[in-house]
Amino acid sequence: RKPSFFSFLVLYSLLCVLCFSMFLFYRRGCPSGSFKERQAENTKTGFFWRIKERGQKNKSPEVQVKSTAGEEPLESCPETPPGLLGPLQVEFETNRTLENVRKQAGSSLQWEGRYKPPDCISKQKVAIIIPFRNRHDHLTHWIYYLHPILQRQQLHHGVFVINQHGDGEFNKAKLMNAGHVEALKEDDYGCFIFSDVDMVPLDDRNLYRCFDRPRHFSVAVDKFNYELPYKQIFGGVTAFSKEQFLMVNGFSNTYWGWGGEDDDMYKRVMFHLKSISRPDAVIGRYKMIRHERDHHNEQNLKNVKVLYETKTGLDQDGLSSLRYSVTEITKNVLFTFITVDVHVAPGQPAG
Ligand code: BGC
Repeated sequence: RKPSFFSFLVLYSLLCVLCFSMFLFYRRGCPSGSFKERQAENTKTGFFWRIKERGQKNKSPEVQVKSTAGEEPLESCPETPPGLLGPLQVEFETNRTLENVRKQAGSSLQWEGRYKPPDCISKQKVAIIIPFRNRHDHLTHWIYYLHPILQRQQLHHGVFVINQHGDGEFNKAKLMNAGHVEALKEDDYGCFIFSDVDMVPLDDRNLYRCFDRPRHFSVAVDKFNYELPYKQIFGGVTAFSKEQFLMVNGFSNTYWGWGGEDDDMYKRVMFHLKSISRPDAVIGRYKMIRHERDHHNEQNLKNVKVLYETKTGLDQDGLSSLRYSVTEITKNVLFTFITVDVHVAPGQPAG
């Protein structure tokens, strides 16, 4: 008699059950997941995966805890960031708005006004301090260009805009000193970069970080025909490590109105630290936003006399004698905006 279709089906099912049991038997002891998944896991976190296997044999819970793939420690960022572009095109278009720049920045900043590279650990934590009053359009351009540059430079940094309260005479140096103090209240920054709001670098190889000497970044500005107007110039964009800034006692607080505070700082640096560092004139190119001199920031000729007296006053005048009070702090994804009153009279409480 010919086997019926039914007995053929039963035989086929029995064979399937047998094959499946054999598969299960040989699979015991192997880690779960498909071969492809395991291979991927192995190349990504080979070391941890091997520990996991041994850990299972030894039944050691301690090693098993360490085996999570996400816990792999990040390495230090490379000395030269890999994504730099070199020379940059910079145009100060008038239709740019802070709101648009903020939208473009999107979620690339992990928390308010501060950035940390996601795939490596920066060697330095840098506070960028911008003395400010009524220059919102300049701030928009500055952020528009600097925000991507600093990310390409893999810089762990925070941006602090220090806004002078009121309409009184401007004191840029005091604002910078206050920025240093306020930034340190937020985090343990080891490097401080002081930047004019109208200075945009034309080359992203000009690395915003600290060096073994106080650094002058803006060595070739378009306004000065891409040359140093004089050898001792130390304005525009400068950097100090925490130690260097303390050694010179910060900026002088006594320069009201335009001019002199940077020349005073040069003298402080030469007196205490003997030299400065600079990039070359190709990398150190800057474009400055053209503008009229601000109201209550007129050139102050008295500053020439103050500058002459620097050597005698620098230990008493500076961070050690700084007086100001904070009126308001606001934060957004791009920067921390701190308004300070620098016209605090002696004897008045100050922050
Ligand atoms: C001022 C500095 C200024 C430089 C360049 C000097 O006369 O004292 O404060 O940075 O000119 O403009």
